[in-house]
Amino acid sequence: MKSILITGCNRGLGLGLVKHLASLPQPPQNIFATCRDVNKAKELTAIAEVSRNVHIIETDFTDPKDYDKIVKTVSEKVDSDGLNVLFNNAGFSPKFTRLNLMKEDHITKTFFINIVVPLMLTKAVLPLLKVAANKCDDKTHMSVNRSAVINMSSLLGSIADNTIGGFYPYRCSKAALNAATKSMSIDFKDDGILVISLHPGWVRTNLGGSNAPIDVDTSVNDILNTLGTLTEEHTGCFIQHDGKMIPW
Ligand SMILES: NC(=O)c1ccc[n+]([C@@H]2O[C@H](COP(=O)([O-])OP(=O)(O)OC[C@H]3O[C@@H](n4cnc5c(N)ncnc54)[C@H](OP(=O)(O)O)[C@@H]3O)[C@@H](O)[C@H]2O)c1
Repeated sequence: MKSILITGCNRGLGLGLVKHLASLPQPPQNIFATCRDVNKAKELTAIAEVSRNVHIIETDFTDPKDYDKIVKTVSEKVDSDGLNVLFNNAGFSPKFTRLNLMKEDHITKTFFINIVVPLMLTKAVLPLLKVAANKCDDKTHMSVNRSAVINMSSLLGSIADNTIGGFYPYRCSKAALNAATKSMSIDFKDDGILVISLHPGWVRTNLGGSNAPIDVDTSVNDILNTLGTLTEEHTGCFIQHDGKMIPW
């Protein structure tokens, strides 16, 4: 792929994705990495200092003008090539997940970043994704090299897999993101834009916690390998880091 926009890149999986992509033998020409506070994103800033193809966009998505800023920054760099991939990665899970401990703002805060932002950002950059999809010589197939939206979901968003209950705000927000993935995959099919929900595994990050069995490098390595295998067969699917299908 020539260009990718990833949200939530100051730490965790977002930072890992930027790190791995920037160090590929043939890295994308443009890696757009969003973070809320550039002054706190030391590792990301250090990568951008040595990799000139990494462009940091500071945004917290609370102002509707943030989306215009992102589109402007991306458009200026990608020009007539459009944007190949939008990776909706930023996400949040509140500390308290049981019904009796839950507060209204836990739900709204979780829904904001896990579903409102991915929907609004996809809406904003869709014209750029369409340009990239249309620019591709091979218009019969889908791939991340052509155009794709990758929605970072979670196994906890699977209704079919829910056997232990709880996790209300997080589960509901990721299930909503999964519903969005399905609709996007249908709506964007004729434009040649691939859309999937992705589960990164249970990964040792702030969100995943220290008991998680997988480290960021392993998950990101798997994710990038899996992204490279995606075709039109996968659009509208829920897939985990190693390529295995997950039930909705
Ligand atoms: N780790 C796991 O085991 C696991 C499992 C399944 C799915 N996931 C998903 O993977 C994605 C990445 O998570 P992670 O494990 O890397 O977690 P993480 O280390 O906690 O990173 C979360 C990222 O999201 C950003 N973010 C959170 N709330 C935000 C907001 N309101 N506005 C803007 N940015 C916000 C954070 O930025 P700040 O530093 O500014 O807060 C950070 O960059 C998430 O969508 C998560 O749901 C993770």
